[in-house]
Amino acid sequence: MKKVITYGTFDLFHVGHQRLLERAKALGDYLIVGVTSEDYDRERGKLNVRDSLPTRIANVRASGIADEIIVEEYVGQKIGDIIKYAIDVFAIGNDWKGKFDYLKKYCEVVYLDRTKGVSSTELRSDLARILRVGIAADGFSDGDIVAESHFVSGLEVTGACSTAGSEAFCTKYDLGAAYADMPALFAENDLVYVHVRRRYRYAFALEALERGKHVLCDFPFNQPEEAEDLMEFARGKNLALVPRLPLACLRTFRQLIDLLHGGAIGDVLSVECAMPAEPFGGFRDAETLATYAITRILGADAENIARVSVRGRERYDRVVYAWRGAAASCAVSESEWLHPGLTILGTDGRADAPGAWWNLSYFKLQTGGADSVKRFSFNTEGPGLRYLLSETARTIAEGKTDTGMIPPEELLALMNLLERGDLL
Ligand code: CTP
Repeated sequence: MKKVITYGTFDLFHVGHQRLLERAKALGDYLIVGVTSEDYDRERGKLNVRDSLPTRIANVRASGIADEIIVEEYVGQKIGDIIKYAIDVFAIGNDWKGKFDYLKKYCEVVYLDRTKGVSSTELRSDLARILRVGIAADGFSDGDIVAESHFVSGLEVTGACSTAGSEAFCTKYDLGAAYADMPALFAENDLVYVHVRRRYRYAFALEALERGKHVLCDFPFNQPEEAEDLMEFARGKNLALVPRLPLACLRTFRQLIDLLHGGAIGDVLSVECAMPAEPFGGFRDAETLATYAITRILGADAENIARVSVRGRERYDRVVYAWRGAAASCAVSESEWLHPGLTILGTDGRADAPGAWWNLSYFKLQTGGADSVKRFSFNTEGPGLRYLLSETARTIAEGKTDTGMIPPEELLALMNLLERGDLL
């Protein structure tokens, strides 16, 4: 018996998928179809897949062509599957031409013609109107949103209005529409990305909301009252207001928080984080992010806050938060000798996220001897912004006012703590 295998997401199952499966089956006697898991798709940066895994499997089954369906869960799985199922032919659409030649060591590799004029991507954009995004800026930085938006379907950055010069801004990022003023930008878009200095954020965001536009805004605002005001206003008009805190959307970070809240290392006694200042555009922005991580773990009701700033040849800042039974600190420095990381001590163990914890993709938990160490990892692509954009698009499509990842009351509590810590 000649066994054939093929893989795909098979989102919004269409005639292209049906024909591909028919052609793959015709190459042998028995067809195994690997359907990608949700995590695997997210990990490889394929965002906004509409159908759940059970739906996609059910659709492949309903085609009546597959003899067996398996789930593709991780990169590198294909070789193992080919050996395990004694596969003779690996078949895939020719949009992947050459990409799977490395499998020729294990079986025959066949690239099949794709059916023209149909794809899941096109069907998705037919289903939901493309969200038009305009950038409101006060300089010549797009905050990476143009490049990152290319990874998120259902969203298109149309252009920008920059107080520094819209034409030059749009030339730099190859954007079609250089808006003459903010009203022109608001008129043409559904979502406004407010990428301006802290003191102007409130005014820009409020104006966009007043014009009925959803807002993605750099964080934090100048004062807690501004955040409160904007959230209330957005809720009243049923518009989404999303603060730019990509860390909140990273799966590994959410998993770490859930495990800690579930008591994985007992009661948390201390949180320590260290990070460089430069990638965040300065000390206060780095400290804001660290404070966000700390409040997710210990809450925002710290009793005392102290801040030390050492101005030697290189600046070193430390902010310390104290609760009755716990303490947290964040160290930010320009020094190349700073060792970045996030360490959490609990009554029954510890959690460590070494390196660039603000882009968290790996951490470990230890609750006893060396053999008790559990490792958790989940790859994320890029600086995390695409995940936030994807969540923003989903929030708007569902008619919600916040992503659910950063509840409004938590955001407000964080703003209050930042104000108390003199970080605003
Ligand atoms: N396929 C095909 N013809 C199409 C679309 C897809 O033959 N018009 C094939 C792909 O080459 C692949 C399989 O169907 O071998 C599963 O593809 P998948 O990536 O799930 O579908 P797409 O429609 O290409 O999805 P997307 O637009 O999200 O990339």
